[in-house]
Amino acid sequence: MYDIDIDSLKNIYMNLSDEIYIFDTTLRDGEQTPGVALTVDEKIQIAQKLDAIGVDKIEAGFPAASKGEFEACKEIKSLNLDSTIVGLARSVKNDIDSILDADLGYVHTFIGTSPLHRDYKLKMSKETIISTAVEAVEYAKDHGLTVEFSAEDATRTEKDFFFDVYNEVSNAGADFLDIPDTVGVLTPVFTHELISYAKSVFDLPISVHFHNDFGLATANTLIAIECGANQAHVTINGIGERTGNTPLEELVIILNTAYGMNLNIDTSQLYSLSEFVGRLTGIKMPVNKPIVGDNAFAHESGIHVHGILNNSSTYEPISPESVGHSRKIILGKHTGANALKSKLKEYHIDLNNEQFDKVFSQIKTLGDKGKCVTDDDLKAIALTELASARETLIKLKGLGLMCGAAVSPTATVKLEIYGVEKETSHTGVGPVDAALNAIRYLIQDTMDIELEEYNLEAINGGTDALADVFVISSDNEGNKSTGRAINDDIVMASILAVLDSINKLLLMKKI
Ligand code: KIV
Ligand code: ZN
Repeated sequence: MYDIDIDSLKNIYMNLSDEIYIFDTTLRDGEQTPGVALTVDEKIQIAQKLDAIGVDKIEAGFPAASKGEFEACKEIKSLNLDSTIVGLARSVKNDIDSILDADLGYVHTFIGTSPLHRDYKLKMSKETIISTAVEAVEYAKDHGLTVEFSAEDATRTEKDFFFDVYNEVSNAGADFLDIPDTVGVLTPVFTHELISYAKSVFDLPISVHFHNDFGLATANTLIAIECGANQAHVTINGIGERTGNTPLEELVIILNTAYGMNLNIDTSQLYSLSEFVGRLTGIKMPVNKPIVGDNAFAHESGIHVHGILNNSSTYEPISPESVGHSRKIILGKHTGANALKSKLKEYHIDLNNEQFDKVFSQIKTLGDKGKCVTDDDLKAIALTELASARETLIKLKGLGLMCGAAVSPTATVKLEIYGVEKETSHTGVGPVDAALNAIRYLIQDTMDIELEEYNLEAINGGTDALADVFVISSDNEGNKSTGRAINDDIVMASILAVLDSINKLLLMKKI
């Protein structure tokens, strides 16, 4: 399929314009996302970052809407960024005056045109709508503004009236005709029809502003561009009213990679910008969001990881670096040996074949239990395995217990620590606690330990059951290690499990 030359496809199926303008409306439609409100300062920071990646136009807000919106537009304009700063205005004189007062040079003015908007919202006749739109465009032009006009709900407007409105505002001096799919009802074929029609009847540059109610905003915008649209309205992360607008990062990457179009956008900052906008708006991206989601370059299955390690293009359409993202190899039940080897290599952990097999099987077991193995889990499992194969530094040499109704449980413990025998007695709330207190005391010159987890299971029931004790201990540097022991005596199993984990911690320190 890819031996078909994209240029011939362009010639046959597309009417691509030489230049596509990226009109970012994160600060206007994006801010209309339910629950999102940005401060003036936050808007300024986002505008600076949008400018830094090279978007052509930034719709900074709706100055007539509030004092804060006005201030944000004015301040962003005063930064003298390379991007053109746009403000939204209804087709009314007051709104356009706010654009002028905010020192903006470019207005995006709109009025609803569909029967629903005419009858239920504006309660205006078709004639009044046209005259209102024309007056607004003329007023803005008379005051020296660049004018982009939108017929709100254009895609649910009758074809004849659609033509009349855009035709009249064109004659009134509009510079750009923007076609909003206000409630996201377009489909690819309908988009094709509509934009081809608009391109054939109007001489002005055509812009599109598509919403994502049916999940088609990116696809429809792409088709509009294929049909000759000159500009696309987009937002970072696709935020916007309801289900949002066309995501900038998706459109730009598709145009770059699939069509070889250079939009002069610095794509290497897309991931950090997505994160930034996500943080300020509180709208986090789902893990499977194209381009910027956490899983956009994450791989778990053994087959995929094997391919990726040989050549990342096998399972990635673009490199994570090209959008400032990073690749993640996830360990779990689908993990293959190659993925594990590459992770171990990344952490400079050398395991022999037997140790490797044990770690591999532990990861699969955890995966089967529905757990995702994090990098920290892997390090703990692998280092524990590595440590357990080494010498025992602290050995239990003796244990005596005294329990009874009239006395505190007392344990006498004898340990050999690096070849030197030491013994002490301690009390505790029970015999296990007493023995652990004694161990802690004996090893205090070597390390401080905390018991993070203690798990006791009886193997095969009955009073003669074997005790299977599993512990996780940590030292004062935050290192953690597991320990396990099976014994027919609960106290003995507990002490041996704790000593097992202590020995592993000591060995880890030497690695
Ligand atoms: O979606 C829409 O119709 C809009 C208008 C303000 C253009 O955002
Ligand atoms: Zn919109």
